[in-house]
Amino acid sequence: MLNNNIIQRFTDIETPFYYYDLNALKQTLDACRDASAKHNFHVHYAMKANFNSRVIDTIQSYGFGADCVSGNEVKAAIAHGFGKDKVVFAGVGKSDKEINLALDADIFCFNVESVQELEIINDLAAAKGKTAGIAIRINPNVDAHTHHYITTGLDENKFGINTWQLNDVAAMLRKCANLRFLGIHFHIGSQITDMEVYRSLCIRINEMQDWFENQGFAVAILNAGGGLGVDYYNPDTNPVPDFESYFSIFKKFLNVKPGQEVHFELGRALVAQSASLISRVLYVKNGQKKNFLILDAGMTELMRPMLYQAYHAIENLSQKSKDDNSAMEHPKSEIKYDVVGPICESTDCFRKDVDLPQSYRGDLIAIRTAGAYGEVMASGYNLRDLVQSIYSE
Ligand code: LLP
Repeated sequence: MLNNNIIQRFTDIETPFYYYDLNALKQTLDACRDASAKHNFHVHYAMKANFNSRVIDTIQSYGFGADCVSGNEVKAAIAHGFGKDKVVFAGVGKSDKEINLALDADIFCFNVESVQELEIINDLAAAKGKTAGIAIRINPNVDAHTHHYITTGLDENKFGINTWQLNDVAAMLRKCANLRFLGIHFHIGSQITDMEVYRSLCIRINEMQDWFENQGFAVAILNAGGGLGVDYYNPDTNPVPDFESYFSIFKKFLNVKPGQEVHFELGRALVAQSASLISRVLYVKNGQKKNFLILDAGMTELMRPMLYQAYHAIENLSQKSKDDNSAMEHPKSEIKYDVVGPICESTDCFRKDVDLPQSYRGDLIAIRTAGAYGEVMASGYNLRDLVQSIYSE
């Protein structure tokens, strides 16, 4: 919640910047830990969503594991204190250098995405006289009903191994003496708000574990991936995702056998609501057809609206705090603005036709729910500086 005290604090800070509310982050982590612990489920934090040091340290202190998708993420996870027995490494294109790094770090598990990758990990492990723990990432062909750019579990996607290749997987596993089969892994997409999708995923996971067991492979780990969505429309009324309902679905529909562990890889749900991108209005252009608010932040600081047409709530903090201070009964009438950034691309627009109170040069603007896939996807395009982060706890 961006209250007047916090807005006051922003006044002298150079914009743009990311504002992290570490207290909000902790409330979310508490809720996730409590809801998962009820069922003895294990949560790995998908580090790709946000690798800001303060954020990772806070998450690590809760005892979650780390889900990594590059050698550098594996290194960062270990440097931030995640136990190597809680580090998993996914990714469709792991390089030999990255695999070697992860083998040297003795990570818990590689989530393997092709038959060829199995052979490569086996050879690299053999050269080091090691055995690599692996899980097979299966493409379950379940539609996540989310934006097609962040859907990953359909036959047409590059991720995971399709079910028609599983005989080859079994044959390769039998050949590879330096691999230890741990279980099966799935991740069907991100920002999933339709819980029914997870029921379909559970059914596929059950079928797949039966298949492996029938082939003589003991399945110790069922990894259901991540994907739980957040409420981008109402960050103040719904700051914490519904972890209870999410984990309950898996409890209800997954066929968990004695001794098996169930793992999740949550990214967005843990961090999205903990940050806002704070920016200032540089210019107000009132045209005949359009009014533009030109901000000092753009797609270089938050690319999601431009890349996925993603909705982020936008607020004029300066006008809001004036209203709050004068205890206005009727909010000022609103104007439609296209809220845009300074980057030399037409696509550099946070949203068109946003209803905002009349806005002025120098007003502070918050773009909410920027904690996931915000700072990590920043770029230096137009030779822009990477921006700072501000924290409250
Ligand atoms: N596990 C795997 C294998 C993944 O690929 C991902 C995300 C996750 C877990 C975590 O998913 P989450 O819980 O955060 O939904 N940049 C996009 C999202 C890309 C997600 C990539 N993979 C966005 O801004 O919406």
